[in-house]
Amino acid sequence: MSAAIIDGKALASQIKADLQERIAHLKSKGIVPALTVILVGDDPASAVYVNSKHNTFVQLGLKSEVIRMPADTSQETLLNKIRELNQDKNLHGILVQLPLPKHIDTNTVIDTIDPNKDVDGFHVSNAGALMTGNPRFIPCTPYGVMKMLESQHITIRGAEAVVVGASNIVGKPMALLLQKEGATVTICNSKTKDLAAHTRRADILVVATGRPEMVTGDMIKPGAVVIDVGINRGADGKLKGDVEFASASQVAGAITPVPGGVGPMTIVMLLVNTIESAERLL
Ligand code: GUN
Repeated sequence: MSAAIIDGKALASQIKADLQERIAHLKSKGIVPALTVILVGDDPASAVYVNSKHNTFVQLGLKSEVIRMPADTSQETLLNKIRELNQDKNLHGILVQLPLPKHIDTNTVIDTIDPNKDVDGFHVSNAGALMTGNPRFIPCTPYGVMKMLESQHITIRGAEAVVVGASNIVGKPMALLLQKEGATVTICNSKTKDLAAHTRRADILVVATGRPEMVTGDMIKPGAVVIDVGINRGADGKLKGDVEFASASQVAGAITPVPGGVGPMTIVMLLVNTIESAERLL
């Protein structure tokens, strides 16, 4: 194996330690950063993510509440709950875990969250603010990826960056952030012809498709930085990324593992966004 391993778990721990001072300062002013997560339905992966977010907040002495609603909750009931939380002066972050059940319109739900409490950065006005270069909240996963690249002193300016996956949660904001830092960015999607021709040109390759091990070593430029956003549970019960680690790590210059790569960074950036939201009240 030649690639350096980008340890997201270690970086997340370091960022958490650095946040202690900001949390203490807020508490000295009588403010405890507070997040409420709404989980609709019983998707097992979502339940794991929500518990993980909750535990991290509690460990750091922040307020965290999880509201669990049944899968058949009506859209109006969910919207009313969000409207109620929007009014809570002691709440700094509201997060509706995705995906939502099919009968609920995701965009309507997200756009009902007060944009000043939308710590996911998914509200249309926050997506627009990011696009026009003045973000209010940066979506947690791409924000975490940028911190990982920064921690490795990777040159983004002038780099060829390829993002595989064009979701609103990861791919699109990821591309905007890389572009803002001066990369030449290509966004690939499931219809891209000859995906490997694109990925082989990437100095920085970010893969967020939800398709286990779809990017293999032969699709990677020697020495490239490979960021694997995927978390997939294999038939053997083990977690696998969207990148085939065994072959990719022979070719890449640096690579994120799964687990222990991007996952812990997503959670820590949610802390950062919630603390920032609380600090805006100072
Ligand atoms: N589902 C998968 N990732 C995310 C995320 O970052 N935020 C929310 N709300 N749901 C998700």
